[in-house]
Amino acid sequence: MLQGMNAVPPSQYQPAEALRDPFGRAITYLRVSVTDRCDLRCSYCMAEEMTFLPKREVLSLEELERLCAAFVRQGTRKIRITGGEPLVRRDVMRLFERLGSRIGEGLDELTLTTNGTQLAKYASALAAAGVRRVNVSLDTLRPALFTEITRRGRIEQVLEGIEAASGAGLAVKINAVALRGINEEEIDDLLAWCGERGHDLCLIETMPMGETGGDRNEHYLPLSIVRARLRRRWTLSETGYRTGGPARYCDVAETGTRIGFITPMTHNFCESCNRVRLTCTGTLYMCLGQEDSADFRAVLRAGADDAALEAAIRAAIARKPKGHDFVIDRRTNAPSVSRHMSVTGG
Ligand code: 5AD
Ligand code: SF4
Repeated sequence: MLQGMNAVPPSQYQPAEALRDPFGRAITYLRVSVTDRCDLRCSYCMAEEMTFLPKREVLSLEELERLCAAFVRQGTRKIRITGGEPLVRRDVMRLFERLGSRIGEGLDELTLTTNGTQLAKYASALAAAGVRRVNVSLDTLRPALFTEITRRGRIEQVLEGIEAASGAGLAVKINAVALRGINEEEIDDLLAWCGERGHDLCLIETMPMGETGGDRNEHYLPLSIVRARLRRRWTLSETGYRTGGPARYCDVAETGTRIGFITPMTHNFCESCNRVRLTCTGTLYMCLGQEDSADFRAVLRAGADDAALEAAIRAAIARKPKGHDFVIDRRTNAPSVSRHMSVTGG
């Protein structure tokens, strides 16, 4: 059978060598926020009234794909699609299909972070596109509290989405933001619920990003406290298990699942950072906690060819800073990074 010029069988495909940043870290992970919009308004993430970006400022799916392909040619092995809520973007499955076709050809993994509201609709298409794992945000199992935290969500929709994802063969990890006085008493139950269903659970400390119209100090809960409390009921043993992210995992003996802790406020995880983040406007942030960025929309829309795109990627990675420095200004309570998490995609 005749093979096309570029058709390399997956087994023989030689992935590009990873780019290294100035601190020697291999940058192999790209997070792509495909929209700043969301159908929910989680109180730690967004303000009640949000002004979203006008369409012309947002990269088209074709522009996003072109950029992702350039990253893969520069050694990116894993792409995570985030938002906002990625599944509310029109035709987003087209992007999953295109990127999914690169798995085995430089790309090892394509994943998704979602709030789960649209998962029931898309779970089987995601699996067909080559997605194997999804992260679903769920901070509580109590329907009324869920509606309160998200300011509008219906938990049933998310639970159906999670079930559909499992049914389609996707591994589901649950992300929960630990919130003092809100879900802190419920974390045991969340772990038990996840354990029964075979989901890993990942707890996240609130990070001071973007104005939310609320007081963050009030709900900031250090995970060191949560972990100490969990140890009263569960047998947790530290593991070296990593998913390429900043979470530190423990095995939970009673459930056979894992619990992860993401602690940007109490621990600095920057030394092992392997990632950069692209927003839906084509701005590349080299660090979640720093303002420096590179404008790829300008590069794309100036008509850059592939070589120019790749050069711009190398130039950006060469500026990756050593680390973040999240602090909540206790006097003004202002966020240390002004953009919202929904802009950079977590
Ligand atoms: N601090 C910590 N986690 C946040 N998330 C959104 N905003 C914040 C914040 N300010 C979480 C979401 C989701 C994950 C991608 O990030 O709940 O689980
Ligand atoms: Fe939407 Fe996720 Fe932000 Fe909640 S945390 S408002 S689900 S983007």
